[in-house]
Amino acid sequence: MLFGPPGAGKGTQAGAMVERFNLCHLSTGELLRSEIAAGTPLGLQAKALIEAGNLVPDSVVEGMIEDKFQSVKGVKGFLLDGFPRTLAQAEALDAILAKRGEQVTACVSIMIPDALIHERIAHRAQIEGRADDARPEVVENRIKTYHDKTEPLIAFYKKAGKYSEIDGVGTIEQVRERIFSAMDKF
Ligand code: AP5
Ligand code: MG
Repeated sequence: MLFGPPGAGKGTQAGAMVERFNLCHLSTGELLRSEIAAGTPLGLQAKALIEAGNLVPDSVVEGMIEDKFQSVKGVKGFLLDGFPRTLAQAEALDAILAKRGEQVTACVSIMIPDALIHERIAHRAQIEGRADDARPEVVENRIKTYHDKTEPLIAFYKKAGKYSEIDGVGTIEQVRERIFSAMDKF
């Protein structure tokens, strides 16, 4: 799984990783944005939460991930991006995988300081037009939510011996090489 705060570069780095290791990239943020774009009931439920920078309920993302594990065939594994994001989601993931006789291989964490998060998201806001990138107070809330609810997962994966942290400051190519060497250890 790819772990890290908003704007750390998870989505940017995912492409090279799935190609190198023959994985299926699953970003819960992207899956939710497609649901919103398609106007599904799930999308309607998620829209206001995402646009305020809050998490959607655990059960929603857990269900999406389990569906994909069942339906996607022909890959060596999955690259999870933005999931799990709470301790409850991490525990649910372990249970979903255990039912399939599988487990998390590694949690590769891309770390950048909060000031750089603001810079990168402000830059992306001009290019991609994501609703949750537009307002500084929403970005601030996403960062706070990350520190409050998601950061505890670092200790969870460290304890499991699956955590590897890399410095996300540098060019896209430099960060990619750091990720590849971290993944080679698992
Ligand atoms: P999600 O889509 O996952 O957003 P996020 O975690 O906030 O992360 P981002 O996608 O903003 O950042 P990224 O790390 O992918 O960075 P990127 O590569 O784009 O989630 C959105 C929302 O959905 C959540 O807030 C929540 O509401 C909901 N949600 C999703 N998953 C959930 C879950 N599991 N549970 C509950 N709710 C959930 O890079 C950012 C920018 O920087 C880009 O412009 C990029 O070009 C640039 N950049 C990247 N790397 C570099 C570099 N090395 N140098 C210079 N620029 C760079
Ligand atoms: Mg992303």
